[in-house]
Amino acid sequence: MRALIYAARQESLQVPWYSEKAGFYSPDYLKEFAYDIAPKKTLAEIDFLEKALALKPGAEILDCPCGHGRHSIELARRGYQVTGQDISSFFLREARNAAQRAQVSVRWIKRDMREIPFEDKFDIALNLFSTFGCLENDEEDQNALDRVGKALKRSGKFMLDTMNREYVVRAYGEKVKDW
Ligand SMILES: C[S@@+](CC[C@H](N)C(=O)[O-])C[C@H]1O[C@@H](n2cnc3c(N)ncnc32)[C@H](O)[C@@H]1O
Repeated sequence: MRALIYAARQESLQVPWYSEKAGFYSPDYLKEFAYDIAPKKTLAEIDFLEKALALKPGAEILDCPCGHGRHSIELARRGYQVTGQDISSFFLREARNAAQRAQVSVRWIKRDMREIPFEDKFDIALNLFSTFGCLENDEEDQNALDRVGKALKRSGKFMLDTMNREYVVRAYGEKVKDW
């Protein structure tokens, strides 16, 4: 049902589904995906990233899109220098507040991922939790990837995390039936 509501809202407002106006990325999202974004899972993901990417102490990390900051904040807590970029004012507000509570410093940027404003700066770039592929067409996806490439140092690494089809069918199949 929610999917239909967002599709209708997007059509009537003539805005992309991921834009702030469409309202998909909202307090409802945080409830709907509470299991997937739970703190315990996030910690395990960061443990994995530290090993898989062999993160060096103090590494410069770009988390884009960072959402409500769950990875950025934990990475900052572990001593990395983190920049979190996202298009959503709501999520960035949540992220700022959470960072303040955790007493960590993260540079937050409100900007579309097709416009990453950095060159040769980061050791690591992250695109986590199935955010890639939501743009309008292959050209825009390629543009976003090119921007990531530009933002990374020559020795930089990029981690792109996206759900596989089988997992989505298994995990969301029952939920989708109710929509
Ligand atoms: C599925 S969430 C993932 C957020 C975060 N990486 C996480 O793991 O919690 C997708 C995020 O992408 C952001 N987003 C969607 N389209 C975007 C765009 N074109 N530019 C920047 N951020 C975008 C949304 O605001 C949302 O925060």
